[in-house]
Amino acid sequence: MMEQRGAETGSTAYRVFTFKDAKAPQESLSVCIPEVLDPQYGMYVWPCAVVLAQYLWFYRDQLRGRAVLELGAGVSLPGVVAARCGAEVILSDGSDKSMCLENCRRSCEANGLQDVTVLGLSWGDVSPDLLLLPKQDIVLGSDVFYDPEDFEDVLVTFVCLLRKNPKAQFWTTYQVRSSDWSIEALLHRWKLDCVMVPLADFDADQPELAGSTLPGNHSIQMMILTRRTEAE
Ligand SMILES: C[S@@+](CC[C@H](N)C(=O)[O-])C[C@H]1O[C@@H](n2cnc3c(N)ncnc32)[C@H](O)[C@@H]1O
Repeated sequence: MMEQRGAETGSTAYRVFTFKDAKAPQESLSVCIPEVLDPQYGMYVWPCAVVLAQYLWFYRDQLRGRAVLELGAGVSLPGVVAARCGAEVILSDGSDKSMCLENCRRSCEANGLQDVTVLGLSWGDVSPDLLLLPKQDIVLGSDVFYDPEDFEDVLVTFVCLLRKNPKAQFWTTYQVRSSDWSIEALLHRWKLDCVMVPLADFDADQPELAGSTLPGNHSIQMMILTRRTEAE
């Protein structure tokens, strides 16, 4: 199936993603994401975002009223899906990335989301904005592990959030770009546990999802990070 694309306005193209439920065919969710025709990171939807959004849609019953923060949101497909499923969402991108923060706002507008906060949060920066955030239940990150230089900063941001809610979970998808890259030693250093979630568990093991083509060969992975429990 071809990707669904809507009308183009200037350099912005509005792309529609429709999530369906094979077990409940009457239920579906369509969101519209403005993408900027620009090769920079954070200007369009990355395949990891579609997979994470599918995870959110699959577990939508768990999202109502939950506090959800998306890191490195870019055009914010997962955060928008979470908000449309009833979560209280904060979208963030680097505090120096004004165009990405503008993309977060534009995605909210395109989906009629007036209660979503957009915040500049740079990974690893223990800023007043990070420290003053209310307790978060779920942290989202799609394709935020793409540069090994940032891996620890992303984890440090999550660890900061654990101080207010030790039970918070980090739901994150990444694309396998090098078999040498690993966060294992960092998980140990920051006392985090990691559970890999097979894509088949949430109907994401497909060549196309929500009208978007995915790269095959298991190149997208989903994991859930939590604070390591004392017993371990
Ligand atoms: C590969 S893009 C992924 C965008 C979006 N999550 C998606 O999957 O479509 C990486 C995102 O991380 C953001 N980013 C990069 N470095 C960052 C940093 N140091 N702090 C916060 N965000 C950062 C970029 O601006 C961009 O939006």
